[in-house]
This record gives sequence, structure tokens and C-alpha cells, in this order.
Amino acid sequence: MGEENAEYLLSLIRTIPGFPKEGINFRDFMPVLADAKGLSILIDALVESLPVDPDEFDVVAGLESRGFLIGVPLALRLGKGFVAIRKAGKLPPPTKRMEYSLEYGTAAIEIEDQAVRSGERVLIVDDLIATGGTAQAAEKLIQEHGATVAGFSFVMELTGIPTPPSIGQHKRSSLLTMP
Ligand code: PRP
Ligand code: ADE
Ligand code: MG
Repeated sequence: MGEENAEYLLSLIRTIPGFPKEGINFRDFMPVLADAKGLSILIDALVESLPVDPDEFDVVAGLESRGFLIGVPLALRLGKGFVAIRKAGKLPPPTKRMEYSLEYGTAAIEIEDQAVRSGERVLIVDDLIATGGTAQAAEKLIQEHGATVAGFSFVMELTGIPTPPSIGQHKRSSLLTMP
């Protein structure tokens, strides 16, 4: 993505100090989606900066909820299907569940057993990586199905927070980095 487009996206992202708890600088990318030009730049940039070639993955998996907002348009543009990894308790059984910690709490995510097949290669998409706890839980869910993570695609990456080693072993792209 060119510098001008990166600046445009950055100008739309809101930073809210102390949300959802003290010490967190919350990065809100919703205004990018609300802006027609921003949305177009964002999806184009995700397509252009994929961490791997489109022929190296079969399906896009988005992480509830903000990962859904970019995962579906990205999958559509790439001619791929989309799989939802949801917060616990939302999907009908049978599912697999993974508990995890993130920058401001703990949670659990699930995937339907039939959503990913053994041997499939999955691109995991989310708006932001901070501690990588969410991304790692998604990775484990994919691997529990005998599928593989082809890479991670993020809009924002927070610097200065160590991520789990397994995340570093995968190819990943982040459009914007910020503290
Ligand atoms: C946020 C964000 C990422 C995750 C990153 O999601 O959208 O999914 O946290 O944090 P981590 O790298 O420390 O794990 P959140 O759980 O707040 O839910 P939401 O997407 O439904 O808003
Ligand atoms: N998820 C985890 N950390 C976050 C942050 N600082 N802003 C927005 N979403 C987040
Ligand atoms: Mg999220």
C-alpha cells in the first residue's frame, strides 16, 4: 500500500485511551469501514499484501467479530470461501473450542467441525493482532481439524507486545503497525 493510502487509513482509525480497561489504547477501525474511500483502500490493500499467493490457501477464516467484517469481502475478491471462527456458544454442535487470553481479558472461540476439512490450507484474517492470543487460539482450532494455517492477514499490528512463537513461524501481513 502506498504511503498516501496508509496515511488515509491511519487518519480514520480512532484511538480511545482506557477502553475497555485502564492501560489499553483501543484502536477502532470502524470509521475506516464507514468511509467509502477508506473501505475500498482497505480491501484493495489486503488483497495486494496477502502474506502468501492466493493459490497457497483454499479458504479464508475470519475471527468474530471484527475479522468477519474484512474476511468476507476479502474472500469474495479472491474467489475463496469464508469460514467463521466464533465466540463460544454461538455455533451449533458439533464444534471445537479453544480458550485464550487477549490484551484485555480471556475468552473462548469455536469452529464447527464440518467447517474445515483435513488437509485444507487456511488464511486467518483479523483486524488487529496485539498479544496474538486470539490468533494462536484460531491456529490451534484449524490444526485440530488436521488443516494447516497458510498465513495471517491483519489490518493493524501493535508493536512492543511479544506474540506466541507459533505465530512467528507463519507468514503474516499487517497493513499498519502502531504502538
Ligand atoms: C480484538 C481484536 C482481535 C483481538 C486481538 O477482538 O479484534 O480479534 O482482540 O487481541 P490479541 O492479539 O491480544 O488476542 P475482541 O476479542 O475484542 O472482539 P471483537 O472482534 O468481537 O470486537
Ligand atoms: N484487541 C486487543 N487489543 C486491542 C486494542 N488495543 N485495540 C483494539 N482491539 C484490540
Ligand atoms: Mg476481534
